[in-house]
Amino acid sequence: MRIAVLSDVHSNWEALKAVWYDLKELRIDAVYFLGDIIGYGPQPRACWETACVMATDMIRGNHEEGLLDLDFAAKYFNGSALTGVQFTDQQLNVAEKAAIARLPYNLVLPELDITLAHGSFSDHWDYIDEADRAREEIPHFQTKLCFVGHTHIPFIFGSEEGLIKDITEDMLLAGEQKFLINVGSVGQPRDGDCRACYAVIEIREGQFYFDLRRVFYDIQKTADAIYKHDLPSWLAERLFSGE
Ligand SMILES: [Fe+2]
Repeated sequence: MRIAVLSDVHSNWEALKAVWYDLKELRIDAVYFLGDIIGYGPQPRACWETACVMATDMIRGNHEEGLLDLDFAAKYFNGSALTGVQFTDQQLNVAEKAAIARLPYNLVLPELDITLAHGSFSDHWDYIDEADRAREEIPHFQTKLCFVGHTHIPFIFGSEEGLIKDITEDMLLAGEQKFLINVGSVGQPRDGDCRACYAVIEIREGQFYFDLRRVFYDIQKTADAIYKHDLPSWLAERLFSGE
């Protein structure tokens, strides 16, 4: 059994397409999205439609929340995030927004021993951006693995090992410990690597093996679409630097 976990596509269709091609080669059995399919970027409809085709299941992120509740967006979002949801609001139709409104905040998949959340399982939109916060989160989920996104920075935190510095290929998630895993961002990476990022987990003989995939895509095409729709130009600039 091999699953892919994607987060924070942020209306970057070029990045999502590149990931789709990449995971087709890997013969993935199930694909899960952790939210923020839309927001910031120029192609919300293409991303939403593509995600609907790809996804086994998905949950909502704070940008879906902001789209559904513009007061929430006005209260919590910075300028470019707010511009992004207002743009998305114009681009998507009523049926698409109704489908987004049906997305749950979390999903627990007991058969896989996996929990899915956007920011954290204990607090939807909280940012797990330091080891102490990751440790605090561990008792809140009951499965062996919990996947999150939201910060756009990948990490693996083991309940015994702590923050794992060196993420290797086909890495065994060893021992009896639980793992909190951030899968990074497909469409707006912020860890200094501009390539689209997502995770693949293979379950072999009851063991979990982890791969963090990085995929090149045509950033210039997405940047051109950002300029074309008059979205803030720094949203394009940050894609090239991955920050
Ligand atoms: Fe995000």
